[in-house]
Amino acid sequence: MIIIKSPAEIQLMRESGRVTAAVLRALAQLIKPGISTKDIDDYVEKTISENGMTPTFKGYNGYPAAVCVSVNEEVIHGIPRKSRLLREGDIVSVDVGGTWKGYVSDAARTYAVGRIDDRARRLIEVTEACFFEGLKFCRAGCRLSDISHAIQCKAESEGFSVVRDFVGHGVGRDMHEEPQIPNYGKPGRGPRLAKGMVFAIEPMITAGSYEVEVLLDNWTAVTRDGSLSAHYENTVVITDDRPELLTLE
Ligand code: MF3
Ligand code: CO
Repeated sequence: MIIIKSPAEIQLMRESGRVTAAVLRALAQLIKPGISTKDIDDYVEKTISENGMTPTFKGYNGYPAAVCVSVNEEVIHGIPRKSRLLREGDIVSVDVGGTWKGYVSDAARTYAVGRIDDRARRLIEVTEACFFEGLKFCRAGCRLSDISHAIQCKAESEGFSVVRDFVGHGVGRDMHEEPQIPNYGKPGRGPRLAKGMVFAIEPMITAGSYEVEVLLDNWTAVTRDGSLSAHYENTVVITDDRPELLTLE
């Protein structure tokens, strides 16, 4: 069942999303060659806590950190470490979840570390563009897989691949609610979207094959072929009209 949120619940999610958005924006200044992935985790945990929120991921299924920080061929769920230093030319995906008065906002961006090459830059841009293609179908009356299809078409038309093993999701009191939202598939399938649904739409796009594997830490998902991967996610409300983005400033 897809939970429909009341206006009062959406207001709390808006407040939650505003902080998550601000954190992601601030990371653009923090992320530089020489910092560790743990520095990113520390910054986000501190900022989220200072705003009276809790980092949603910490302790979720035993996840050991506040955020996920995934470098280069790491797709998602990278665990921050003091010993993992960012280097010029890396790309780094940061996924942030914050809980405010019981309501979760969930969002991710991929950042350039110093100067990066053109293909990496293009991957980041296309991943963001994939999200916005999907967003065109985040409207009451559309079918769920219209979002999926739009994302896949954009990624593949640019010569990139869509990760299959991880998907977007409903979000609210729980970080993962129904429905699951694949970033690929035929259009015109699945439930019709309705006002008050809230989704985390999150394309994960690779520069090579879409196959991924999970490392021995049981969390970090990497591309099998070692190709670069990018991630872009926002928490989105379905309305009577244009969708509302809760995690973008
Ligand atoms: N934003 C991610 C997701 O939607 C992050 C979950 S990380 C976890 O699945 F550690 F909390 F699982
Ligand atoms: Co998510």
